[in-house]
Amino acid sequence: MSDQLIIFDTTLRDGEQSPGASMTRDEKLRIARQLERLKVDVIEAGFAASSNGDFEAVQLVANNIKDSTVCSLARANDRDIARAAEALKGARRARIHTFIATSALHMEKKLRMTPDEVYAQAQSAVRFARNLVSDVEFSPEDGYRSDPDFLCRVIEAVIKEGAGTINVPDTVGYAVPELYGEFIRSLRERIPNSDKAIWSVHCHNDLGMAVANSLAGVKIGGARQVECTINGLGERAGNCSLEEIVMAVKTRRDYFGLDMGIDTRHILAASRMVSQTTGFVVQPNKAVVGANAFAHASGIHQDGVLKARDTYEIMRAEDVGWSANKIVLGKLSGRNAFKQRLLELGVQLDSETEINAAFSRFKELADRKSEIFDEDILALVSDESVSQAQEHFAFVSLKQHSETGERPQAAIVFTVAGREVSAQAEGNGPVDASLKAIESHAKSGAEMVLYSVNAISGSTESQGEVTVRLQNSGRVVNGTGADPDIVVASAKAYLSALNKLQSKADRVAAQG
Ligand code: KIV
Ligand code: ZN
Repeated sequence: MSDQLIIFDTTLRDGEQSPGASMTRDEKLRIARQLERLKVDVIEAGFAASSNGDFEAVQLVANNIKDSTVCSLARANDRDIARAAEALKGARRARIHTFIATSALHMEKKLRMTPDEVYAQAQSAVRFARNLVSDVEFSPEDGYRSDPDFLCRVIEAVIKEGAGTINVPDTVGYAVPELYGEFIRSLRERIPNSDKAIWSVHCHNDLGMAVANSLAGVKIGGARQVECTINGLGERAGNCSLEEIVMAVKTRRDYFGLDMGIDTRHILAASRMVSQTTGFVVQPNKAVVGANAFAHASGIHQDGVLKARDTYEIMRAEDVGWSANKIVLGKLSGRNAFKQRLLELGVQLDSETEINAAFSRFKELADRKSEIFDEDILALVSDESVSQAQEHFAFVSLKQHSETGERPQAAIVFTVAGREVSAQAEGNGPVDASLKAIESHAKSGAEMVLYSVNAISGSTESQGEVTVRLQNSGRVVNGTGADPDIVVASAKAYLSALNKLQSKADRVAAQG
């Protein structure tokens, strides 16, 4: 059996299915580039048949990513599979990942199909996909809760049709490590042609065991592909986290005995990029990428680490992208130094125009804030106004007044489809007044379901990073904004959320 572990990232597909985590095409491409830098083996870029927006995002990623295989999800039907193949046409290496549910519960209640119908559909879907691309993955959805005898029949048939990867999802996060590992092992032992495919694990985190289950699938079950997402992003409690699985396999190579192609030094930048793009803040005590992951507060620990680092550290912070030198640039730094820092942070801006836009924002920020940290730079480049894409709503300026005993007021100027508008409002506080002013003109009618502020780099001089989650007609989006003035950051986050609602509405309209 191979001693190479394939890392399949599904941040842009399963991760994006998390409520509020939807990403634009450009955001997806930026994250895909970071995943390529990380040397992820397979990038699942989306679900091409689900909407025109998803189709275009898969196509954009396929046309631009050269070193990783680009994959699209497809239900087990000819239309979905043909659409996936179409979107993947420009990829150097393309994979179609087709799936159909195999548990009794899903077949009966969701699909309303008999097991024989599901069997036949799985078989013909893989046959059809193999006529379009050579790399086909098959997933029996809710596989872990499926009848093992039926699962063996289906998997044997799809391997015969040419599925090169068999992925066994624990769709609802019900598994426990030993049982999941044994489940995969027994499928591999019972299916006569199981050695013709690479086995893959796909675990959800409902009971907090996605990483442990995936590791058991690898160690006990013999899987050689793990499906995971940056920061564990994903539906409900999320998916198996890429940074945790990769660092577990690397740090405990003595136990797992497996190699991976991942360049772990890009993990932190990937984590920040995904967090800033989606507005899903990383908890400080999150393994590997949380702010405290390598911080030692207790005197005994600090003393130990100073004497010999491995007394309390099992990984080197710099191996996952944490740099000792936190202060990077200031107002005297030039364009070249800025460009160099972007490269070191793994950020690739697509054109000179984008670099110039980012640099002028950097200069503006450096005038207001003496120390510019890596986090500031990452926030700055993820700001929508740096991207060339013309946003429907864009921030221009804000004036607000608050005084003890008086009701706060705000006056905001922003553009709507390139045309400048101004609006005023009062509110409970300056943030409330500013967002009410925007809404008085935008009239989105959206309900705010989350508002959060996070200080990017510790001190009160820090930029505030705001996430706003809006819900409208069943759609949920997150908008983010960063600025040293948290009222401005809030207004930017609100406008960014409105843009996402707008682009989702366009996508739905385009599907007719
Ligand atoms: O969790 C799941 O079952 C999935 C499949 C589509 C692979 O995401
Ligand atoms: Zn999933």
